[in-house]
Amino acid sequence: MRVLINNISTLCNTEDANSFVERRSGAGMAQLPCIQNAWLIAENGIIHSMGTMDSKPEMHADETIDATGRMVLPAWVDSHTHLVFAAPRDGEFVDRIKGLSYEEIARNGGGILNSARRLNEMDEQLLYDQSLERLYKVMATGTGAIEIKSGYGLCLEGELKMLRVIRRLKENVAIPIKASFLAAHAYPIEYRQNKVGYIDLIINEMLPVVAGEGLADYIDVFCEEGFFSVADTERIMDAGARHGLKLKIHANQLHHSGGVQVGVKHGAISVDHLECVGEEEIAALQGSNTMPTLLPGAAFFLGMHYQPARKIIDAGLPVCLATDYNPGSCPSGNVPLLLSIACTQLKMTPEEAINAVTINGAAALEMSNELGTIKVGKKATLILTKPIPSLAYLPYDYGNNNIERLIY
Ligand code: NIG
Ligand code: FE
Repeated sequence: MRVLINNISTLCNTEDANSFVERRSGAGMAQLPCIQNAWLIAENGIIHSMGTMDSKPEMHADETIDATGRMVLPAWVDSHTHLVFAAPRDGEFVDRIKGLSYEEIARNGGGILNSARRLNEMDEQLLYDQSLERLYKVMATGTGAIEIKSGYGLCLEGELKMLRVIRRLKENVAIPIKASFLAAHAYPIEYRQNKVGYIDLIINEMLPVVAGEGLADYIDVFCEEGFFSVADTERIMDAGARHGLKLKIHANQLHHSGGVQVGVKHGAISVDHLECVGEEEIAALQGSNTMPTLLPGAAFFLGMHYQPARKIIDAGLPVCLATDYNPGSCPSGNVPLLLSIACTQLKMTPEEAINAVTINGAAALEMSNELGTIKVGKKATLILTKPIPSLAYLPYDYGNNNIERLIY
């Protein structure tokens, strides 16, 4: 199957066939190589060739797309989501408007525990059907690869139910999906006085099954005051690593919790959230390969202060952006909206923000060799925009859908 796209006004974030960009960092995040007035051929889902319209070879194609006035970008790689969940939490949204904090709601048995109750009551097929619908919805706004976490089961059966749903999504939807095992998301009520007991359950009962059945690519921990301490996090990460799971951490969302430092120390692929990041966390990240992943959609929705993206970039580090799509802190998986928040609130330029959700998203999922830039040999998972006057127009025109389709 050969697809030819003609008259692309801008082919965005291209890479030479003989180079290898794993991620873009610091000042390099402003680089977004583009080809104007371009064509591209995809063959059996892989980018076959590209160039400028004045040098277009004669080639037969099974499908020809005229992209006049439109741009083509690498699909968004959303490297942090909780897309599998049972029910919205709009009641808590109103409670927060009236003055309760996210942490107070969690302490009162709401928040993640509320989602866990609903998920454990729900039939697996319905959970799958709802999750599939959500996945197609984010694909329509340009997401072409995604990470999805467990963490609303908080018991063996519930966690397995979520991971099995993610596995079915992997099997049935033709975009790359990675799964993270996040049983260490909150302590179930019955373990509130026996936290060690819950960690033992994760390590001794859940992990062997999850790893044995190959249900997860990563292990994740919510390292935060009132949730899992640095010591708890280390125990869980060590156990995950023994089972061959790479690490991701929910770090520094609500406090300077030490999550960034412990993630770096254990070679985490990424540390995610980072609302509370200062000099010490930045120093820890320098010289490491751990990706700082910012989730400003959660800061927006919870009305918190934003992540210091400029400080991180100015320190020479990469920044990855992800949605955190979940029913509590960010009920949106819409990447174009995330780009708008990143530009207006975090003061990232459109080029930096686009790198953060393409090549740096790919790096956060260890997929830079397949995704994240438009390069011969990589997956032809591409965004075709509607007619737009500039790249900056994407984050500028916030709340509107300028994605015509995802090609995959
Ligand atoms: O990344 N902070 C921890 N976990 C999720 C939110 C989970 C929830 O509120 O349901 C997050 O924001
Ligand atoms: Fe999250």
